[in-house]
Amino acid sequence: MADLSVKVAGVDFKNPVIPASGVFGYGREYEEFYSLSRLGGIATKGTTGTLRTGNLPPRIAETPMGMLNSVGLQNPGIDHFISCELPNLMKKDTVIIANIAGSTPEECAEVAAKLDSTDVHMIELNISCPNVKHGGAAFGVSCEGAASVTKVVRNATRKPLIVKLSPNVTDIASIAKAVEAEGADSVSLINTLLGMRIDINTRRPVLRNNCGGMSGPAVFPIAVRMVWQVANAVKIPVIGMGGISSGRDAIEMMMAGASAVQVGAAVITDPFAPVKIIDEMNQFLDEKGIKSVSEIIGAVKPW
Ligand SMILES: Cc1cc2nc3c(=O)[nH]c(=O)nc-3n(C[C@H](O)[C@H](O)[C@H](O)COP(=O)(O)O)c2cc1C
Repeated sequence: MADLSVKVAGVDFKNPVIPASGVFGYGREYEEFYSLSRLGGIATKGTTGTLRTGNLPPRIAETPMGMLNSVGLQNPGIDHFISCELPNLMKKDTVIIANIAGSTPEECAEVAAKLDSTDVHMIELNISCPNVKHGGAAFGVSCEGAASVTKVVRNATRKPLIVKLSPNVTDIASIAKAVEAEGADSVSLINTLLGMRIDINTRRPVLRNNCGGMSGPAVFPIAVRMVWQVANAVKIPVIGMGGISSGRDAIEMMMAGASAVQVGAAVITDPFAPVKIIDEMNQFLDEKGIKSVSEIIGAVKPW
């Protein structure tokens, strides 16, 4: 058995596989299938300052090799998360990453400050949600916006801070550098790509929000490219995600430069996907005689 442990921003992970924010809730439904202690970590559903009901349905649509969602950050708010969800998660012997968002930088900072006095291991600041009208992606699409929200959140917490980047930009590497300069300890990418489907019979968009975030296997090559570009541009560790659905995908993402991976849409099609991915990574490393998964981080040999 290969050593699957990795360190990201000073935090030890027993393996690099983390269910992505928004597809795993707070883990309760998945505990019925397997012990959450098998996972490297868990990124929780995006949490805001107060309860959000999210967007009107329909807000999920299937696409070939992927899905569109416009959930719109439905969540019970930070106080509920801290009092009702976090205590259960903190018992699970895995790294807990609280994913946060807000309509303004100040709201993000307020949420981060509340988490600062909890035991949560890491904070993932989502500056990239394409499905909310205010804030969300608006922060993440310019270097100035990304830097300014990172700065106020950095000042609000001493927890290791991961900033989650939007792929809906021209030059993701420069945005990664901007958040690194403001004190981000890590960056994670990619969030969903803005997409749209239309029902040709009714001529209505399939999603009530008209547009939504595209994820799943179809976005994988785009995610690998962006992780590779960002990993070459920053010194902080990169967490890669976008379309990972097998151990081989996870290995490929790590060869592109990711120190850990998150698994999103694949968890919706198969709740066991994260644990299968861990086993498949192990098998690949053993077959190749690679002793530690950290040996493959950034191991791609570009032409
Ligand atoms: C239903 C759904 C809800 C999501 N909610 C969030 C969220 O609350 N916060 C966040 O940062 N990302 C959210 N995401 C984005 C995922 O965490 C991930 O970045 C994206 O789906 C790409 O990975 P994938 O192709 O493996 O799904 C959501 C994705 C899906 C499919």
